[in-house]
Amino acid sequence: MTASCVVGLQWGDEAKGKIVDLLADRHDFVIRYNGGANAGHTVVANGRTYKLSLLPTGVLKPHLMSVIGNGVVVYPPRFLEEIDNLKAQGTEVGDNLALSDHAHVIFPYHLEEERLNETGSGQTIGTTGRGIGPCYQDKVGRVTAIRVGDLLHADYLRQKLHAIVPRKNRMLASFGNGLKTFDADQITEEYLGYAERMRPYVKDTIRILHDALREKKRLLFEAAQGSLLDVDHGTYPYVTSSNSCPAGIWSGSGVPARNLEQVIGVVKAYTTRVGRGPFPTELNDGPDGVGEKIRKAGNEYGTVTGRPRRCGWFDAVAVRFTAALAGADQLAVMLLDVLSVADEIKICVAYDFEGERLERFPSDPFVLERCRPVYESMPGWRSEIGSARKLTDLPLATRRYIDRLSELIEKPIGIVSVGPDREQTIFVEQ
Ligand code: GDP
Ligand code: IMO
Ligand code: MG
Repeated sequence: MTASCVVGLQWGDEAKGKIVDLLADRHDFVIRYNGGANAGHTVVANGRTYKLSLLPTGVLKPHLMSVIGNGVVVYPPRFLEEIDNLKAQGTEVGDNLALSDHAHVIFPYHLEEERLNETGSGQTIGTTGRGIGPCYQDKVGRVTAIRVGDLLHADYLRQKLHAIVPRKNRMLASFGNGLKTFDADQITEEYLGYAERMRPYVKDTIRILHDALREKKRLLFEAAQGSLLDVDHGTYPYVTSSNSCPAGIWSGSGVPARNLEQVIGVVKAYTTRVGRGPFPTELNDGPDGVGEKIRKAGNEYGTVTGRPRRCGWFDAVAVRFTAALAGADQLAVMLLDVLSVADEIKICVAYDFEGERLERFPSDPFVLERCRPVYESMPGWRSEIGSARKLTDLPLATRRYIDRLSELIEKPIGIVSVGPDREQTIFVEQ
């Protein structure tokens, strides 16, 4: 197998981190191709919990090569802090990590621009506040963008920042609700300091990956966010600013899509969403309702921002769409144990749009907003399933539930997860 991808098929937090960690040893490289420190990937291993935001999950295994591709946006203090934290926990980070010289850099004015956007009177998205959107805006706009490689050329960086920062100050002042201004000299000095510490990691990652392909190394791509948050294909404008579905691999790493031989689509056994935007199967059934029970049992609070995640039933209409979009070969169904709290389990099999039954995910966001879920109901199992290690250890009702998901999504199920630990995983024989 040349290249595989682990991708989320909902609105993020599907437990991609756990799957990447489980599959990493079958590969030589783990590569992030999109997003930045808006991601929060949790891995429970060796009795410890690791939370990764910007670094690929592969860094937990120093014998593997971890790559931050050109499609990622990097906030240098966060990059360095994450490395320091790992080292403090006893995980070695050195030559096993490469950061693309073409990745774009997040500056303090990006964070401020996002803060003003999100607190102003215009459209708000409910972002993670990590400067992701404004940095990608600059990348596409070109003239106010700075890449990681630029940080290593002091004179060039100083010159660029002296042109960009006054422009940004004028733009930020025009928001009306902002008082903060930035100083080009101060930012230059600060970032030159980061650059010296980042220098050993900065590489031509495209060359590294092309060499890896030539040497028949096995690559594992780790998507950030979920396909419904993809900037082109997700629930726009309530999305992130990159291609989180595998479409982002080619542009975000330089590895041609034709090398991708396996796509593992990761889903929760239910649905969560952080931030604003349509969510047809959201449960708003109060403090004693199933929504709150799922939130508690699944510990559904954002890794990055600590916000309570919105919780709801599994949406087979949405996932059938994203599974096709991602070209998923198989599904990994995660957090199945959480549904043990429900007496009755619902699956959204279609939408009702003003009396019309829709079985395909609508392209028009105004339609999606007004869709009501059409549910199929299944009996719950109400028993602890965290110790199951094979399908036959699961109650019949649980097996029926995952079989039904597979049928509705039209994809086989390859992995079932019944708890956060590595061991709490069932690999389904195909
Ligand atoms: P990611 O962003 O897709 O990597 O997902 P997150 O790490 O943000 O959220 C998934 C959470 O669920 C993490 O806290 C995991 O430790 C946890 N988790 C993973 N698999 C399971 C599972 O099968 N059951 C339970 N209860 N928790 C799980
Ligand atoms: P992982 O990789 C869940 C959401 C934010 C917001 C929208 C835009 O852990 O699955 P952004 O800061 O990217 O501009 O915010 O996207 N979002 C995520 N939701 N999991 C994530 O990452 C997310 N990354 C961004 O909540 O709604
Ligand atoms: Mg997450």
